[in-house]
Amino acid sequence: MKILLINGPNLQLLGMREPEIYGSTTLNALNKHLKSVAGSLDSELVCCQSNHEGEIVDRIAEALTDGTDGIIINPAAYTHTSIAIHDALLAVKIPSIEVHISNICARDSFRHISMTAPACVGMIAGLGVDGYEWALKALIKYLTDRKTEKSNKRIKKS
Ligand code: DQA
Repeated sequence: MKILLINGPNLQLLGMREPEIYGSTTLNALNKHLKSVAGSLDSELVCCQSNHEGEIVDRIAEALTDGTDGIIINPAAYTHTSIAIHDALLAVKIPSIEVHISNICARDSFRHISMTAPACVGMIAGLGVDGYEWALKALIKYLTDRKTEKSNKRIKKS
């Protein structure tokens, strides 16, 4: 499986940004760890981060043609505002899981609504950076189950 991890605005500052909320792990260390977890599950993880909404939309569209099987996305502040990211995820129809390091439902009321989660298979929030690893494992299982289901259907038909 080829999985694309997209991190949104300000997440390049992980490790130094409000560590009491987001922890002390840097984005580099997190990406390195997640790539090795993906490798141990016979998968490849491609990581990117952008502070720009349009760039995130472009990267999602690119996933259509670069062999991406699944997307893990933390849209960060765009979670609460971006219809464009929501629409991009729906347009490519690539199974996606949304991750939040903090529990967005337990914070400021403007963080309670996710514009992007309805375009995803599921969402993990509030488990710190460990949430990314849970999302990776869950997405690989989801994609594997879907593949098995499809090939079982094909066998039944023939
Ligand atoms: C976040 C939560 C968002 O509300 C916030 O704007 C972020 C990070 C999280 O991972 O907890 O930048 O997505």
